[in-house]
Amino acid sequence: MASINRHSKQPAVIRGMFHSISPVYDFLNHMLSMNMDRRWRAFAARVVCGAGKGRVLDACSGTGDLALAVARRAGRIGAKTFIVAADFTPSMMALARRKFESVNGGAMSVAPLPLIADTMRLPFADSCFDAVMVGFGIRNVADARAGLEEMARVCRRGGRVAVLEFSHPRNPVVARVYGFYFRRVLPVVGWLMTRRHAYGYLVRSVDDFPDGEAFSAMLAQATGGQVARYPLTFGIVTLYVAGVETTITGKRRVI
Ligand SMILES: C[S@@+](CC[C@H](N)C(=O)[O-])C[C@H]1O[C@@H](n2cnc3c(N)ncnc32)[C@H](O)[C@@H]1O
Repeated sequence: MASINRHSKQPAVIRGMFHSISPVYDFLNHMLSMNMDRRWRAFAARVVCGAGKGRVLDACSGTGDLALAVARRAGRIGAKTFIVAADFTPSMMALARRKFESVNGGAMSVAPLPLIADTMRLPFADSCFDAVMVGFGIRNVADARAGLEEMARVCRRGGRVAVLEFSHPRNPVVARVYGFYFRRVLPVVGWLMTRRHAYGYLVRSVDDFPDGEAFSAMLAQATGGQVARYPLTFGIVTLYVAGVETTITGKRRVI
């Protein structure tokens, strides 16, 4: 596998990295976040799917946990929701598929549909989803701006594009304590568990990626809409939700 440095977000490298850590991805996510990742996804599902029904796309879905959070939310409020979980790493999607099958018939309205697809070239018509989400994924897309535009393209006017992503806490004390954990502890534990540098890449990719105002501006540009920001757990993660105010006509985006 090619090495992961701060300049290499080539799809083949990113896919190879996620393929190599896929067997322990969920376990490490839950352990390293002390299970807070479950709450972040549940919150995103609640905010985005508050009204219930609709068609939802979870892009860069990985092992499908965000799609599952949406399905559980829909099941809880009795909403009929059709969910597609898309990712370009087949082994991550295989794990998602297994989870979707095992929970089908449980507390969900309909199990999500797994699909192998690139977020920069989604195989869907314009405006065909009510909500398009991505959890901890857009930072890994080779051209994040293009990925967001593609997500906005497949979302209908009046729908929502939501991004759950790591951010930098603003409180200096939290920033110091969390910074030590995030930069010093997490990459070492990640390396011990996987013998890969994926968790060092995680730290660099978060540091290099815009957050707060800067990411809101990027999302607003891609969607043409207002962006609401929800900092979670002292701002170590942020949920960004944009209303899609534009629609695609032919090749043109119009207000
Ligand atoms: C950190 S994981 C996030 C998985 C999941 N959304 C979650 O909440 O845990 C990032 C995922 O993005 C996927 N990914 C990165 N670039 C992609 C692209 N251009 N198209 C589709 N998936 C992509 C990777 O395969 C990986 O599964």
